[in-house]
Amino acid sequence: MLFPQMFSVFVLAGLVALTVAGPIKLELNNEWELFKTTYNKNYLQEEELLRRVIWERNLQHVQQHNIEADRGVHTFWLGMNEYADMSSEEFVRSMNGYRVNATKTFQCGKFMTPSHVKLSDLPTSVDWRNEGYVTGIKNQGQCGSCWAFSTTGSLEGQHFKKTGKLVSLSEQNLVDCSKKEGNDGCQGGLMNQAFDYVIQNKGIDTEESYPYKAKDGVCKFKKANIGATEVSCMDVEHGNETDLQLAVATVGPISVGIDASHLSFQLYKSGVYFESACSSVNLDHGVLVVGYGINGCDDYWLVKNSWGTSWGMQGYIMMARSASNMCGIATQASFPTV
Ligand SMILES: *[C@@H]1O[C@H](CO)[C@@H](O)[C@H](O)[C@H]1NC(C)=O
Ligand SMILES: *[C@@H]1O[C@H](CO)[C@@H](O)[C@H](O)[C@H]1NC(C)=O
Repeated sequence: MLFPQMFSVFVLAGLVALTVAGPIKLELNNEWELFKTTYNKNYLQEEELLRRVIWERNLQHVQQHNIEADRGVHTFWLGMNEYADMSSEEFVRSMNGYRVNATKTFQCGKFMTPSHVKLSDLPTSVDWRNEGYVTGIKNQGQCGSCWAFSTTGSLEGQHFKKTGKLVSLSEQNLVDCSKKEGNDGCQGGLMNQAFDYVIQNKGIDTEESYPYKAKDGVCKFKKANIGATEVSCMDVEHGNETDLQLAVATVGPISVGIDASHLSFQLYKSGVYFESACSSVNLDHGVLVVGYGINGCDDYWLVKNSWGTSWGMQGYIMMARSASNMCGIATQASFPTV
């Protein structure tokens, strides 16, 4: 018997997990305690063993992947971030709220590249963070509201471009108030439907006046607290990474849907992300492209996520660019006009 004192825990939660994964490694006790303190984890007693087993399985995966990455087998590294105690299935279920609602499809206008702009004129790298277009990394919590964060991200950028003021905008406003446009709060939504809401509503409140709660609530929009307005939105030609590059270079940060359903994405740490299992059509996560560039030999899109700063490169990821629309990054790209 491994832990006589934890017999009830063993029976309650760990039985299946232990049978599948084998006993936990006692030599990792200190590291486990450090993980829990670092990320403020307070588990129910009957939950802890299960979390530990998942965490150890992820740790083993991260170590193996990184040994291979050091040898040049992969172009990116993984890390034990605050989501390292969740299984892939569970994580996708709670975090990835990009939902295509077939009964309600809002069409934005079609983005046309200004005729004087040629691909050969574009800079080899762009990073809108350096120009003041991008607010700090936010954290959606365990709520499928990624679509709201992607929406505020591109609107914050266009508002800055027009007014010279960077105003953080309210995701909770979108979560609570854009049901009519087809969004479903923490159960998911789409950026274009959220753009539609901001247009119809004639504005969106500031983050400060309408703070994020990571749960569904009643609409508390107040006209007096509007932080930005929007007149229309534009779709980038579906699936065309060249058009996406033209849009990012000439417009600013662009909202995109991606396939983020893989463990490699959940535990991404650094380098240029390349996932051969990624789909270009089954999109489940909304994020923000804030630039692009070349890292060594690898072209990448610079992407802002909404999973806090423990994830990725302080909340950002470099995703493979010109790699046959990997993870569908150019499949549903759009932005607001203000
Ligand atoms: C799609 O949107 C319609 C209209 O807002 C809503 O009634 C329906 O429940 C939504 N369907 C899904 C699957 O979210
Ligand atoms: C992608 O967009 C570029 C620039 O607008 C265009 O020249 C090219 O033909 C497009 N590619 C496809 C496959 O449509």
